[in-house]
Amino acid sequence: MTNKTPYEILDLRHFGSKELSAVLDAESAVWLRDLHWDYRSSARLLTQYLDARTLPGYVAVRSGRVLGYGYFVYEESKAVLGDVFATPFGMQPLQDGEDGVDETREIEARLLRHQLETLFASPGMERIESQLLVHPSGVHTHLFQDTGFQIYPRLLMTRTLHGPRVVPVVRLPGSLELRAWRDEDLHPAGRLIAEAYSGHLDSLINNQYRTVHGSLRFLHNIVRYPGCGVFTPNVSQVIVERHSRELVALLLCSRISAESGHITQICVHPQYRRQGLAHLLLTAAASGFVLQGATEISLTVTEGNQEAVKLYQADGYETLHRFDAAVWEKETYA
Ligand SMILES: CC(C)(COP(=O)(O)OP(=O)(O)OC[C@H]1O[C@@H](n2cnc3c(N)ncnc32)[C@H](O)[C@@H]1OP(=O)(O)O)[C@@H](O)C(=O)NCCC(=O)NCCS
Repeated sequence: MTNKTPYEILDLRHFGSKELSAVLDAESAVWLRDLHWDYRSSARLLTQYLDARTLPGYVAVRSGRVLGYGYFVYEESKAVLGDVFATPFGMQPLQDGEDGVDETREIEARLLRHQLETLFASPGMERIESQLLVHPSGVHTHLFQDTGFQIYPRLLMTRTLHGPRVVPVVRLPGSLELRAWRDEDLHPAGRLIAEAYSGHLDSLINNQYRTVHGSLRFLHNIVRYPGCGVFTPNVSQVIVERHSRELVALLLCSRISAESGHITQICVHPQYRRQGLAHLLLTAAASGFVLQGATEISLTVTEGNQEAVKLYQADGYETLHRFDAAVWEKETYA
């Protein structure tokens, strides 16, 4: 028989970064251990929103101690579940009333239910997207499925970089030019992403890919904010058609730790596929990160995107972690 001191679920906006610092430290340790990802720059950004008391979400609190938190972000008629995390048992000393049973998942599930209840009750809510990267696939899947979400399994893949062996092989047709990313590539890149993902599985998961406007929003987040690592413009590359100056392929990279580089986006215009452009960009990413002293490179990919998965496997990437993307859409009746 257990005798747990109950915990409360309270509004996140009543708590500042100081009260959440132990949970954020624990989360950073899990990100580094499981994903080889230094979460501290994301956590720093989060603390700004926490201290501004503007982030909608919930915390689980027992005897004044924050055990876990979850937040979400509204984007017009869509919401994105940003995170849910409870400190794993064993990472903090137990206090009176805690019986040693690992209740981490139960706390997270309660936080998630509160988040979803709030979102379902939000006026005009039409779509909810979630990619809880740190949680292994299956952990909260039932909760999402039971509330009408569609699940898309995703992979975090990594490959090690062995400096001397990474030799860029550039075999581009004369009409195409490979060069480093520039700020002015933002708008052409938005157009390319919308075309590359037209009718694509990933545009079911992230509806920003469906329009140029949405793709620009996605790009803005990647380039300006550290949510997907710190953007590295000199490793990021574009392939340009010399005559039209339009982008035909794109590689966006970020730094997620002192050891690891990350590919946040790679796409090739449908008319330029199966010519080895993606292989070329992957090689450019590897050599760029080697020059920066990284020893590993990672990316995420939807398991059902087999064309991309095979491409990465051929380049030496292996699955490090599986997680779920979940999407809920309001039923519309014609
Ligand atoms: C996935 C994607 C980036 C691949 O781009 P790509 O430039 O067509 O890829 P590549 O040409 O380098 O390689 C693809 C395959 O074509 C083959 N190929 C390369 N040159 C070829 C040629 N001249 N003739 C025939 N096949 C060729 C490659 O061998 C490779 O097959 P393999 O994986 O069995 O080795 C592209 O399909 C795309 O943009 N998809 C939509 C966006 C997307 O899914 N991005 C990834 C998100 S994680």
